[in-house]
Amino acid sequence: MQIISTTQELRDRLKSEPSIAFVPTMGNLHQGHLALIRQAREHGRCVAASIFVNPLQFGPNEDFAKYPRTFEQDCEKLDGLADVVFAPTVADLYPEPQQVFIEPPPIASELCGAFRPGHFRGVATVVLKLFNIIQPQAAVFGKKDYQQLHVIRAMVRQLNLPLEIVAGETLRAGDNLALSSRNGYLGAAERIEAVRLYRNLVRIRESMFAGSLDFPALEREAAADLEAHGWRVDYVSVRVAESLAPAQAGDMNLVVLAAAWLGKTRLIDNLEIVFSNSGMSLKRCRSG
Ligand code: PAJ
Repeated sequence: MQIISTTQELRDRLKSEPSIAFVPTMGNLHQGHLALIRQAREHGRCVAASIFVNPLQFGPNEDFAKYPRTFEQDCEKLDGLADVVFAPTVADLYPEPQQVFIEPPPIASELCGAFRPGHFRGVATVVLKLFNIIQPQAAVFGKKDYQQLHVIRAMVRQLNLPLEIVAGETLRAGDNLALSSRNGYLGAAERIEAVRLYRNLVRIRESMFAGSLDFPALEREAAADLEAHGWRVDYVSVRVAESLAPAQAGDMNLVVLAAAWLGKTRLIDNLEIVFSNSGMSLKRCRSG
């Protein structure tokens, strides 16, 4: 595995590669990231990962400075899984002030975007830069960041980018908490409490399968349960999986997304909910 820190060196290393599968990350790697990198192997001869904490996607009061940086351990984990690791400095990726941005679609101002203004603009811009530097034929993104995946797919389609976007399932801890670099911020008691977020998503799915289709009521109940246990809820929202538009009874492919604060830690999670229509009744279908 080669570790490369400048754009020029990376271009030189990759120019003779016939097919590259790429996994962008911000480091502090966990099994969720590593699963995406294993998945990438199925989509290209050369597997490239990037580690870059992108200042452009953090708001002024967010955790850019304290975001966990564990470069050595990350490289040990990647060894044997990736062929190339690109770990540029901020000065290398942004040698001049970035004044050209990707304007993401309007949905990027909803859900997480409503609470993190400019976040998806920063994500889309850095991802396009990385795509242009690496020129992969495929790139793998986790469903854990469902809205991010949606924004990247829209960018690729609408800007005719010549690569395939591959989605990876969310990896969870034994208690079903979605793996996340930010879980490391949680204290011991918070870590136990953290799984309530996912449990509420599952409860919404169970309620729907039992016939409750008043989505705003289900969202309110989940938020109330979280708040009753000390969380501060940004949103719990039932959406159409394909478009992320607000869902209505009768929509078949849904996703419920949530973001909430436990102490000083903001956690996000989501759960896809698939109905299959047989006759007049909505029947449960396999879902994640
Ligand atoms: P980061 O949070 O490091 O995540 C890198 C990739 O890992 C993303 O595609 C994310 O969805 C995926 N991921 C995170 N947790 C996961 C889990 N539990 N299971 C499966 N996949 C998981 O997302 C970013 O970095 C940045 O925004 C980035 C795209 C690199 C742009 O800076």
